[in-house]
Amino acid sequence: MKIVLATGNKGKLREFREMFRCEVTPFSELLGEIDIVEDSDSFKGNALIKAKTIYEKLGEEYIVISDDSGISVPLLGGEPDIYSARYAGEGASDRDNLLKLVENIKAKGVDRTTAYYTACIAIVSKYGEYTVHGWMHGDVITEPRGEGGFGYDPMFVPDGYALTLGEIDNEVKKGISHRGKALRLAKPIIKLLGSTS
Ligand code: IMP
Repeated sequence: MKIVLATGNKGKLREFREMFRCEVTPFSELLGEIDIVEDSDSFKGNALIKAKTIYEKLGEEYIVISDDSGISVPLLGGEPDIYSARYAGEGASDRDNLLKLVENIKAKGVDRTTAYYTACIAIVSKYGEYTVHGWMHGDVITEPRGEGGFGYDPMFVPDGYALTLGEIDNEVKKGISHRGKALRLAKPIIKLLGSTS
């Protein structure tokens, strides 16, 4: 079976490819651009919406994997959470979203506060649907640093580190990240589904 990734996010695609070390095709190469409405109120619900939509279009020879992820800041009542990709509005860039989060934290009168990333990976194939989660805890800071990673990485300092994810080596990020943890849970499921075809 062929593995297809239900994401157009370049940062996620790069991390998936590096971790699977096998051919992972983004759905857009097979289906072109599709606008998927992610209207669930949870990471799991949105991950399943993405994977099921693509699987239904591609059919039984495919294993479709999706990732829905985001950052949550308890000081802001959990924001931006499932709205991380569109925190500064529909079509907002990663930079716009990061700057909005910086401003909202500053407005609370602090320059550092706890936060965590969540990733839900959904796997949809002819054998049914599976979901796994991973989390990474740390702090967000109001002076972003580093050019690495993507999204909110320049303002996120993982627990136990002094550097931001924008400054930390990608290999290190893979070992500690929400997506890395979820992928390590997803890998044996995907291997099993692939071998039963
Ligand atoms: P999704 O593509 O709808 O799941 O939105 C995920 C959004 O969460 C991304 O656009 C980023 O803003 C943020 N995000 C998720 N994972 C990461 C990460 O590993 N680093 C930085 N930002 C992330």
